[in-house]
Amino acid sequence: MFETDMDTAPLPRGEYAPLLSQLDGLLDGECDLGANAANLAALAFHALPDVNWFGFYWLRGGTLVVGAFQGRPACTRIALGQGVCGTAAARRETVIVEDVHAFPGHIACDPASRSEIVVPLIRGGRLLGVLDVDSPRPARFDVRDQAGLEAMAARLLAASDEGSALI
Ligand code: SME
Repeated sequence: MFETDMDTAPLPRGEYAPLLSQLDGLLDGECDLGANAANLAALAFHALPDVNWFGFYWLRGGTLVVGAFQGRPACTRIALGQGVCGTAAARRETVIVEDVHAFPGHIACDPASRSEIVVPLIRGGRLLGVLDVDSPRPARFDVRDQAGLEAMAARLLAASDEGSALI
């Protein structure tokens, strides 16, 4: 049986170093992007405090399509430029939303969500998708989360080929 020695207790707010080293362990020896994204989502969802959705949307035929995630079922497709995910993808930059109700066009998947951060996934100049994280707490995410999540995304993309995520 597969076992990990991952400590799944929530980390202090803004603390990403233990998560990054656990992620390195999960990525070691595996290059399938879909598999690695699934394990990253599970790892981070349980480790980050006050998070109710953590997952990926992959760009397929010009539309973002939901991939591996933890949390309640989510909307399947998001157009570029639509919602927080589509905005981050179109701008190709991380978007932090302190109050999702004040963000024009926010797509409410889980009504409990109050704040959100979306990190675009770009490799070699090509947009592959986005990493989306939601919280039931207003203003949950700040620059520490941006740095930590961008570092996780960079490690994921560096360790993985496109495998099952983008077929
Ligand atoms: N709130 C997102 C949609 C995805 S869910 O949060 C999982 C958005 O506005 O793009």
